[in-house]
Amino acid sequence: MPFETQITKMLGIKYPIIAAPMAPFHTTHLTVAVSEAGGLGVLSQIGLLSKDKDPIEEMKQNMQYVVEHTDKPFGFNIRTSRLEPYAKTLCDEIPEFILDNPKIKEQCRYVLTSAGSAKVLPQSKTFQELKEVSQIVHFHVAPALWLAEKCVDAGVDGLVVTGSEGGGHQSYENVSTLVLLQQVQQRFPLIPRIACGGFATGEGLASALSLGAGAIAMGSRFIASKECEFHEVYKNVVPPARAPDTTLVTGILGPIRLWKNKYSLGHNRVTKKEEKLAQEVVMSTEELAKAAQAYDLAYQGNIHDGAVLLGQSIGLIDSIKGVASIIDRITQDAERAIQKTANLIK
Ligand SMILES: Cc1cc2nc3c(=O)[nH]c(=O)nc-3n(C[C@H](O)[C@H](O)[C@H](O)COP(=O)(O)O)c2cc1C
Repeated sequence: MPFETQITKMLGIKYPIIAAPMAPFHTTHLTVAVSEAGGLGVLSQIGLLSKDKDPIEEMKQNMQYVVEHTDKPFGFNIRTSRLEPYAKTLCDEIPEFILDNPKIKEQCRYVLTSAGSAKVLPQSKTFQELKEVSQIVHFHVAPALWLAEKCVDAGVDGLVVTGSEGGGHQSYENVSTLVLLQQVQQRFPLIPRIACGGFATGEGLASALSLGAGAIAMGSRFIASKECEFHEVYKNVVPPARAPDTTLVTGILGPIRLWKNKYSLGHNRVTKKEEKLAQEVVMSTEELAKAAQAYDLAYQGNIHDGAVLLGQSIGLIDSIKGVASIIDRITQDAERAIQKTANLIK
């Protein structure tokens, strides 16, 4: 049965399930599969400080691919970190590209910025032009309450509220999704929001909806899908991994949650932003590029020496399945959970 929430209506989708972006890797086939199954697929920003890939051309090609393979809505991610050399150009050139492509303009309903300032995209004139003539909305990842406040000040259309259970980029505050969702509900009860970090089941979706979110976004659950482009060895880490098998370390853009392996257990964790900023000042571009190679290694299937980004939700995932069957199962279980909970009121 279709769900109707503020987010499904805003994005024109059947189910309140969004694919989390997972750069620096390709998630193009995954985007098509999630959108076709009634959720919202989201393209990742390819390349991480890497000189051999052009994230602008890659994004354009990936958008073309998506609209050639589905007529459903989809979205994309831009990381606006101060360390991302392409952030501003992406914010200018991708909206311009969308404006010139009617099919992409019709289907591209969501842009998620993350890992940096929420202000970079709204400052782009081409994005403002695109907003006026399309249904695109701008969300930003808020991994802490003070960051949610900054996003609201920047004028975003909504938030992706991501707690510390999640795989990949994290905040220094280390607040769980459960607490963060309630904090945002108290502070900004009306802002549209997507719950992210730790979701992989129907019961999780039901709880997110009760906490005021209009959808969930999932990364790790979709890595363990048949359509995901990740290396089979990477996918096969997910089942049988357990929830405690991840750890927080400091990545290039800040804290990240990784699967425990030789790489992550050999890495320090910086607990203060000031300390990280001081490190960045003395890091050369070459050193940064070298650190970025750890992600490429994992993508190529070297799960021992590479940075294997995964969230605690891996402890909930017991099989690699097709995207449509993942979404069916989650929505059916959520429906049952919501009805069961409603029956508690006498
Ligand atoms: C492999 C991987 C790469 C990620 N890369 C990005 C990224 O480029 N941009 C971003 O906003 N979040 C990124 N994230 C975070 C996810 O978008 C999302 O917040 C996270 O996967 C949610 O937790 P879950 O894995 O428990 O679903 C990444 C996560 C993973 C697992």
